[in-house]
Amino acid sequence: MNGEKILVTAALPYANGKIHLGHLGGAYLPADIFVRYKRLTGADVLFVCGSDEHGVPITITADKEGVKPKVIIDRFHNANKEAFEKLGMDFDIYSRTSTEKHHQVAKEFFLEYHKNGLLSERKTMQFFDDKAGMFLPDRYVEGVCPNCGYESARSDECENCGALYDPNTLINPVSKITGQRPVLKETSHWYFPLEKFQERLESYIKEADEKYGWKENVLQYCRGWLKGGLRERAYTRDLDWGVAVPLENSHGKVLYVWFEAVLGYISATMQLSEERGTPDLWKEFWQNPDTKYTAFIGKDNVVFHTIIFPAMLMAWNDCHADKYILPTNVPANEFLNYESKKFSKSRGWGVELEEFLADFDPDSLRYALALSLPEARDTDFLWKDFQARHNNELSDILGNLVNRTLTFIHKNFEGKLPEPGQLNERDSEILALAAAYPAKIAELIERYRLKDATLEMMNLARATNKYFNDSEPWKTVKSDKTACGTTLYISSKLILTIAEIFSPVIPVITKRIFEFYSAKPVAWSVCGDFPLRGGLELKTPEILFKKIEDSQLEKYLSQLTPKEAAPSQPEDQEITIDDFSKVKLRTAKVLEAENVPKSEKLLKLQVEVGGVKRQIVSGIAKYYKPEELIGRMVVIVANLKPAKLMGLESRGMILAVETEEGKLDVVETAKNVKSGTIVK
Ligand code: 2FM
Ligand code: ZN
Repeated sequence: MNGEKILVTAALPYANGKIHLGHLGGAYLPADIFVRYKRLTGADVLFVCGSDEHGVPITITADKEGVKPKVIIDRFHNANKEAFEKLGMDFDIYSRTSTEKHHQVAKEFFLEYHKNGLLSERKTMQFFDDKAGMFLPDRYVEGVCPNCGYESARSDECENCGALYDPNTLINPVSKITGQRPVLKETSHWYFPLEKFQERLESYIKEADEKYGWKENVLQYCRGWLKGGLRERAYTRDLDWGVAVPLENSHGKVLYVWFEAVLGYISATMQLSEERGTPDLWKEFWQNPDTKYTAFIGKDNVVFHTIIFPAMLMAWNDCHADKYILPTNVPANEFLNYESKKFSKSRGWGVELEEFLADFDPDSLRYALALSLPEARDTDFLWKDFQARHNNELSDILGNLVNRTLTFIHKNFEGKLPEPGQLNERDSEILALAAAYPAKIAELIERYRLKDATLEMMNLARATNKYFNDSEPWKTVKSDKTACGTTLYISSKLILTIAEIFSPVIPVITKRIFEFYSAKPVAWSVCGDFPLRGGLELKTPEILFKKIEDSQLEKYLSQLTPKEAAPSQPEDQEITIDDFSKVKLRTAKVLEAENVPKSEKLLKLQVEVGGVKRQIVSGIAKYYKPEELIGRMVVIVANLKPAKLMGLESRGMILAVETEEGKLDVVETAKNVKSGTIVK
């Protein structure tokens, strides 16, 4: 061990679905590469992960299936744990937040804050869905923003115009669970005062960035949150699934999932310490100022790991002598998309890890993904790329190098590694190149540039292949057997350097390469000059990579045609024909259109309906230039009560179709239809 203490956590995935490739690119593969590398440097590493098993979506899945949430979390916890194992994730523990230990830790934090007067209890009015018999979290209520008219506004906040409002001013609220109109009901909750930590969080992020170089994308998210000014956040929810609020008279209330999930990292480390029979081990990491703690996450988790979790730890530290460390770095990635579109469980778009690994090897996936990690911006998983990376790089470069070297030794040196002779210039050059590699790769990995690190790993294999070719051992074997032996000795040394530096990315294959040489990894710092003795008996080589044929991709490629996005019919609430007849749909001709100043979303349109002109303000500015709409015959809800959107009167609503990409396409009829015609 080199004395370095490294704590690594990877976001705890919800046990409400299976891990897919998008998750891997966001957080898990980078975390595993980093951990494997750190272990080789001799650092004392703890790598902690597990399932996040609370939250509303899990209860909804359970209700849909008519089972208890426990059934759902067991199913997905086990499936994900197993898939991660197959991928070679080197976790020290893969725990879960339904454990007793976790509940105990989460309650302890809440009670400490409560005891120290940090939390305030307040009554609020919240939407309640009578049919589902539950209070609705913000994202399960949708309505029209009272400020800008955005149609998918949340109960108290509009993501379009940023307005915050009283839930009872939300227009036409609808429960996303039952499709019913929810009612407002009084409830009381505990609030955590994030605003009290604003300045300390600002300095924490600034200092951590100065010292450890945070990623620009992460800093930008943080700035966005901090700039707006932090506000208190509800620490509790009305729900019967989760960590129960540990106070009297709080029946039916649980801790908000995010306020306890992040503590899952700590409770899992405590569990691990107990399992290893060293119950205080967790303190050596979590309460040791020398520990470097990296939290790997995807971009949607940034605020929870750079603001909420640090604030919670600060709050605890304020009243305790034993202080928790804060994340040293949070190298969040952007999203990895699947064939150019967002992964979507409901639309059946994407591929799950479990299914993938039934057809292909983990290292092929790890290598291809490492080269398309969304480190700075969203990237894509493309099947053709995956195939090319495997066939043209892993197989043709790395596999070929190992195979030809070993086969040559077996054929011409009876399987015994030759002793090197006098080195020529080419030999010295390639050895010097290899010697510089561990530091070069380390530099990139330490800065979380794993894509570049992986490119470099393959570059060394490329250079070694070239060295082998240029040395022409098939000629020297006849003309100068010592020189030939030197080439093979040096190629072998390089192969072992490559195996070691590549092992964080492709652990299975590199292990096999080591086995051919009966070797084991050495300390990272010396692997550029891999110790190897001449005369060593080598194992018979086997092919490392079988090419991936087009036929193996067919199953997946055929699913990419539009039909695959299996239509998932939402459960619509039924209405009678009388209900429908109240809605007057009419054709309308767009006469004029212009942008609404200070709104990204709204267009102001003048339309003609049966010879009468009227103004409609519509939230389609992101999808149409004003001039594109002029002359079109659209369909409107003609008898909608007039409303004011950003101070502009709107009389009616234009119908639009929400496309798969989330764009709005206005509904049109043939241009020769008369405006004002009823649509039935
Ligand atoms: O996004 C998610 O899948 C969350 N379950 C991540 C939680 S990370 C941490 F808070 F535990
Ligand atoms: Zn709005």
